[in-house]
Amino acid sequence: MSVPIAAVPLEDAGLPALDLRSARFADDPRAVLAEALARGPLAISRRGVEVLSYEAISQAFVSEHLDTAGPEHYTELGAGPNLLGWVDSGLLSTMGRTRHDPIRRLLLMALNFRNIEAQRTFVNETARRMAAPWLDRGEVDLVGDFTEYYPINVLSAMIGFPAADIPGFARAAHELHLLAAVPMAPGFPRIEQALADLADYVRDLLDKRRAQPGDDFVSALLAAQQDQRKLSEDELVGQLVNLIFAGMGTTTKQLASAAADIVQAGRWEYLAANPGQIGRAIDESLRFSPVTQFVVRITQEDFEFQGIRIPRGTRMLLNLLAASRDPRKFPDPGTFDISRITDDSRLPFGWGVHRCLGQPLARLLMEEGLRVMLENLTDVALVERDRGPHPAQMLGGPNSLTLTFGRR
Ligand code: HEM
Repeated sequence: MSVPIAAVPLEDAGLPALDLRSARFADDPRAVLAEALARGPLAISRRGVEVLSYEAISQAFVSEHLDTAGPEHYTELGAGPNLLGWVDSGLLSTMGRTRHDPIRRLLLMALNFRNIEAQRTFVNETARRMAAPWLDRGEVDLVGDFTEYYPINVLSAMIGFPAADIPGFARAAHELHLLAAVPMAPGFPRIEQALADLADYVRDLLDKRRAQPGDDFVSALLAAQQDQRKLSEDELVGQLVNLIFAGMGTTTKQLASAAADIVQAGRWEYLAANPGQIGRAIDESLRFSPVTQFVVRITQEDFEFQGIRIPRGTRMLLNLLAASRDPRKFPDPGTFDISRITDDSRLPFGWGVHRCLGQPLARLLMEEGLRVMLENLTDVALVERDRGPHPAQMLGGPNSLTLTFGRR
């Protein structure tokens, strides 16, 4: 593609450097990102070109010159056969478009807003059941006692994985979050093992559901297969592994973060009295404490972006953590404000062809999880909010969150 002459080559653009290894970034990443954003929409780090502003990220999400990192990227990194197979035919966010688009449409048949909304009562009942053991205890680690279990229990029931199997496959699925580590290569042996374990489990379940179909997503997918033969066996297995992986850690961390944000902003009792505002509070927490801190894109050809000529093969980091505090889009960005209208989900759930497929389910899980907490807990105080992984990792959010409370 021809590039306008005016565009400055990347190496001459003098982009500010972002030092992700500095003690200051580890201590206060938002301050470092805000300073970088004040200098301009782009910066350079050891991860690649960092896209910091809301406006530039919105542009990048829909650019035809950018795509997610595909199988070649993982081959270059030295990934093993299980991972290479999965990024090729299972992991939706790494697949080429010709396979991605029809598979995504098939999954959307189950995960669309209307089908998910129909599960609200079931989701609420699951949240109540899973919160019951600690509601009278006066203190809880919200992550370890609740948000690690409740979303995966709902997701498993919808997909058709028996609840008794969760501890087994959840351990393996957790290992897959090593894919979000920077650098990724040291985690490859554990990722290989986890993928082998998950594929064995899913194949076994598929055999059982073929013999005895149920009222679940696995059985519906198998029925669609018989009618239309849409997915190969590897693709079928890969998709189910994909759903467990994508749905687990994200909602766990985001729900805990939302509860902590609401307590810290002193809005718990207000929300308990105004449950109609729960959706707004979740939107604001997705902006204020996004757990997906960046997504990666690779340039497919030389192109001009924000006045700079970016060469083919450049890694671009759409820095959602920076953009969600962009003052040009969100006035007074460091304030958690439920009345703010953030009816734009392109940051926390991505945008364009790879936007989050689980968004309706994630929102439902968070709404009903919070509703159960707000209805039952009062005098809630935040004792400790773990800072979570290093802020340069893709998935942030607390690993533990201690609250004390009384029973309403
Ligand atoms: C609060 C919770 C969640 C957050 C913040 C979140 C965030 C995201 C983001 C930012 C992307 C886009 C990645 C990119 O553009 O490279 C994405 C994609 C995806 N998410 Fe989620 N997600 C959440 C929950 C879920 C759940 C519960 C599921 C499963 C049911 C899910 C399934 C997926 C899938 C399958 C994709 C890939 C879509 C594609 O490539 O076409 N997510 N998610």
